[in-house]
Amino acid sequence: MEELYLQWPDRTRLQINSWDKVRVEVKPRSIVFCGMGGSGVIGDYVYMLSYTVKDYPPVIVVKDYLLPEFINSNDLVFIVSYSGNTLETLSCFYKALAKTRNIVVIASNGRLIEEAEDKGIPYKTIPLNLMPRTALPDMLYAVLGVLDSSGLSLVSLEDAVKALEFLASNTKQAVEEAKIVAEHLYDRIPVVVTTSRFYGLGFRAKNEFNENSKVPVKVEILPEWGHNDIVGWEYNGRYPWSILTIHGVNDSVSELLMEFTENYYKQIGLPVKPLILSGNNMLEKLLYGSLVVGLASVYLARMYKRNPAETKSIVQYKNMLHKISHELIKPR
Ligand code: PA5
Repeated sequence: MEELYLQWPDRTRLQINSWDKVRVEVKPRSIVFCGMGGSGVIGDYVYMLSYTVKDYPPVIVVKDYLLPEFINSNDLVFIVSYSGNTLETLSCFYKALAKTRNIVVIASNGRLIEEAEDKGIPYKTIPLNLMPRTALPDMLYAVLGVLDSSGLSLVSLEDAVKALEFLASNTKQAVEEAKIVAEHLYDRIPVVVTTSRFYGLGFRAKNEFNENSKVPVKVEILPEWGHNDIVGWEYNGRYPWSILTIHGVNDSVSELLMEFTENYYKQIGLPVKPLILSGNNMLEKLLYGSLVVGLASVYLARMYKRNPAETKSIVQYKNMLHKISHELIKPR
């Protein structure tokens, strides 16, 4: 499993080769991302990348089997599922088909690719035989390529290539950082704290520790943390929590908020490990941070002697969904 993360800089080059393979002719009112788990996170990453881009269409993230009712032919819908068979995502695909032809499918295989071919919907494929969560950069780059080639650029091809070079030259540092993070979280319940600009990375970290290390995780986002969660700690410092703070934003307000939060946790006796994201821009920081938490979750699994690749409970959940698939999926 570790290898699937370490391959990121090399493997993602396949998406560079097919960067402009799919382009759409639409000036969308909004861009909607449908997907679950390791595929759903792609919408969060695009949202974070778009946050500071002036006049960019609103990015809507849907992790559900229902599509927001407002969607119509003015919107562009990305359907992202590594396996191509996730039922909530398939449900959104069929619901989107009833509303618009502005759909792009990202998958490695499965029913989504069959349906896209059958219905003439543009799609991009991701390499087979990866765990969905380890295919984060592959799926993200597939989407960024479509956006860039369709006049909706968030990241240019040149910057996408540079980010992979950056990741390659910082992999060793990420490995070392990941080992420290895993040690810090061992035998404790992780709490991941970050600022709202990096909310998606905070949730990505949670998902990685859930799925690979098999531990429950709490995520807190600043500044909202200071308006509710902070109170919940007043009597709870005695539990075996361990705090991981993720620093990405360089502005002084964010740093002051982080400093306050870290001191708060230290004062109630909890260990705090800051993770400072390396990178020259948002994409590089997101890739670097994702690599560190991904590797850390594999190392933590190793420390607990657990298999990071096996997700028995997700299989159990998906089996239940299959039993109700006639309710969930209604092909047009
Ligand atoms: O990382 C994982 O294995 C999961 O979170 C999956 O991504 C999730 O179950 C959805 O499956 P898929 O990505 O194949 O649509």
